Amino acid sequence: MGKVIAVDGPAGAGKSTVSKIVAAKLGYTYIDTGAMYRAVGLKLLRTGTELAEIVDGIEIELDDKARVFLDGQEVTAEIRTPEISKLASDVSKFGFVRKKLTELQRKMAQRGSVIMDGRDIGTEVLPNADVKIFLTASLEERARRRFEELKAKGQAADFDAVKTEIALRDKQDTEREIAPLRQAADAVLVDSTNLTIEQVVAQILAICSTH
Ligand code: DC
Repeated sequence: MGKVIAVDGPAGAGKSTVSKIVAAKLGYTYIDTGAMYRAVGLKLLRTGTELAEIVDGIEIELDDKARVFLDGQEVTAEIRTPEISKLASDVSKFGFVRKKLTELQRKMAQRGSVIMDGRDIGTEVLPNADVKIFLTASLEERARRRFEELKAKGQAADFDAVKTEIALRDKQDTEREIAPLRQAADAVLVDSTNLTIEQVVAQILAICSTH
């Protein structure tokens, strides 16, 4: 059985980009836990139903191409909007939402050979992970990356608005009571502010080979 790798950090640090590449290089499964909170946010937006009811019956699936399915329907592109980013962060503060998704995430990691990214993977979801990475970058750089990403997708974006949105989400995710974003005591810190994607991937692979 291969390792379990946990990658945590704030929005825009590059977690999903590098985790996908590391997964491909190692032949591991990539699990994007943020996508799961986004799916809950999307269902709330679509149905306006009571959150407890949504969580109770929700079906979330991630396939091996990192596609996301909500109740059997693909929502991969739909969950990548600033509105859903904010909603995902909003719903993530509720204990019953976290409990449900944490259970699903632990099941997904059971077979090993996985790299899972999120906010609380090394601290809460998989405290016994073989490798823990805390990936961060300056707010300015994370906002720049997210801004470029939105522009490339043809979504109109204003840099300052993107930066404000990320700062607000950082604050919410760090200050919430249950499983807040923080670096696990045994996580290795990687600051990607001045690194290329390839350099971050190389650092993570090097860390994996020594753990
Ligand atoms: O990684 P992301 O930007 O797609 O995550 C969206 C939101 O979901 C994030 O702002 C907080 C929440 N989240 C969480 O609380 N715990 C996780 N493990 C992953 C995401």
